[in-house]
Parts: sequence; C-alpha cells; structure tokens
Amino acid sequence: MKHFKRVAAASLSGLLAAGCLAGCAGSGDDDVQIIRIGHNQSTSHPTHIGLTAFEEFIEGELGDKYDIQIFPSELLGSQNEMVQLTQTGAITFCVASNSLLETFSENYTLFNLPYLFSSAEAYHASMDDPNIIDPIFESTKQAGFEGVTWLDAGTRNFYTINTPINTPEDLHGLKIRVQQSPTNVRMMDLLGGSATPMGFGDVYTALQSQMLDGAENNELALTNNGHGDVCKYYSYNMHQMIPDMLIANIAFLDGLSEEERAIFDEGFELLNQTQRDAWESSVEEAKDYAQNVQGVEFLYPDIEPFQEALAPMHEEMLNDYPDLAPIYDLIQEHNAEFASESE
Ligand code: GCU
Repeated sequence: MKHFKRVAAASLSGLLAAGCLAGCAGSGDDDVQIIRIGHNQSTSHPTHIGLTAFEEFIEGELGDKYDIQIFPSELLGSQNEMVQLTQTGAITFCVASNSLLETFSENYTLFNLPYLFSSAEAYHASMDDPNIIDPIFESTKQAGFEGVTWLDAGTRNFYTINTPINTPEDLHGLKIRVQQSPTNVRMMDLLGGSATPMGFGDVYTALQSQMLDGAENNELALTNNGHGDVCKYYSYNMHQMIPDMLIANIAFLDGLSEEERAIFDEGFELLNQTQRDAWESSVEEAKDYAQNVQGVEFLYPDIEPFQEALAPMHEEMLNDYPDLAPIYDLIQEHNAEFASESE
C-alpha cells in the first residue's frame, strides 16, 4: 500500500510539475475547471470529512464551473511539496500544518509556540478572531498563496515506544520526531531530547524500525496513522495546539468574481465548522481504540516543569519578531477570558 502510494504520488507530482493536470478539464466539458486539493490524512479523518462537505457545497452552487477533486494520504506528495505545488498553481489548495508554514512566513511562528494558549477555548477564540488570523493569512501573498481557513488539530503530546514521559528529564537522550520547523527543533533542545525533523508520512516506518524513540502529535496519529501500534505510552503534557491551515493559490483567489468569492468563503466556513464538529468525537474514538485495541497507556503528568522549560521561547520569539507583539497580546486577552480550569 505504502509502495503504491509513493508510486502514485511520484507520478501525480510529475504530471503536476509538467503542468499536464493543472487546470486541464477532465470531464470533456472545457468550461469546467478542475480544483485539486491535497492533504496528508486518511479518508476517515475529520479534515477529509470537512473537505468532502466543502466539495459538495461548491459543486452544488458552482458545479457548472468547478470540479473539486480531493487527494488524501499524501497522494500529491508531502505537505512541504504540496505547499510548493500550491504556490505555483499546479494545484489550487492544500492543507498544511502551521508548523511548516513558518518557513514560508515568520508570522506563522507565533502559533507554533509551546504553551501559547491557556485552554482549548482560548485557542479556538484566537483562531476565530480576524484581528489575529487575518494578518497571518495575508503574510504569504507575495509567496503565491494565502490561508483561507483553519482546521483543528487538537493538542500535541509526546508518545514513546518504551519510556513513559512523566517529566522533561524523561526525554533526555531520546530521539523524538518533530515537524520540520526551527521552533520545534528549539523546543526539543530545551527539553533535552534529540529533535529528529521529518515529514509525517515517514514517521510510522521510522518508529517501527526503532530509528526513533517516539514522536509528538494529537491522539489521531495513534490510530489513523498507526503510531499506537508501536508506541505504548502517550503522555498528556499538552505542549502545543497547532492548527492546520487550508491554503489557496493566490492567482486562483484573485481570479474569482465577487459572487464566486462569496460562495467560496461560505464553503471555507462550512469546512471549518464541519471539521471542528467531527474533531471531538474522533478524538474520543481514537482514545478508546488506542487504549482498548492497541494497548496504549495514557499518562497525565504535571505540565508545569514542561512549561517552565519552554517559557524562554515566548520572549525569544518576541525579540526576534517584534511585529508579532500586538497579535501575541490579543491572544493573551483570549487566554485571560478562557483561562484553564486548573489555573
Ligand atoms: C497533525 C496535523 C498534520 C501534520 C502532522 C505532523 O496530524 O494535522 O497536518 O502533518 O500532525 O505531525 O506532521
């Protein structure tokens, strides 16, 4: 299956790079423009469910003009590759983790900070606040793409093959896969673990062959991506809430008429709501399956030592990117309004 996926991805990316797929009509009707959307999750993931609702809505409204095609499971390549395909317009949209986007615009660094949000409610309120999200979304226009909506990716936590993580010291010397971003590497350095950046699609094999001691992600990585088959300890240290972003090719967005743009905006909103509605129950199901079928043990460590170890990153970010301070301050307002129950 994995081999098939890679071959399929290689040939599709080749065609896209050659420009054969981009914008070519597939239905025999030359007026219908194909819109390709790539993502790296399986078809049972909330993101795919949300994108399917988006597809149905847009085709219901504008089916005579647009044919939406969704490519799950890295069929169009890794997230990094898909962002580049979106930049050039070879594909129209892709879903990319906020982590990766920090290498395209420093503004995205903000949401990658560990312990940025005081609670899930503060995180959601911040993401829903146009004064916070719009300047971030708009910051990549020069690079050829723009964020159009955010998707929930829950809370990231450490999980390991052999070593239960109860304190930052437990991470010392462990090889932990992180997403490919400077912020994530810095985070692991401060915690004393050995950061191993790699693309999401390579993590399962690296865990299985014990090239890694563990990784960090939300609960769905245990089940949808099979990491819980190998990693038996999942530790709720709650270090990051990192959203996924739907990004769009800028030339495509600029080419939409006002009426079409309004319909697409409604579709983005529907995608956001559908994905978020599916998220909570998916996490509950994943926990249940991980615990009862895969035999994963869930641990609930004291998060304060993790927070203390990573606290310097907030000041470092504000020193490096002072322009982000007003947005950081707006997030603190949502944090104060939705403080966690334990505070
Ligand atoms: C989550 C997130 C993905 C990301 C992945 C990762 O699953 O939703 O967008 O690619 O984490 O750790 O790379």
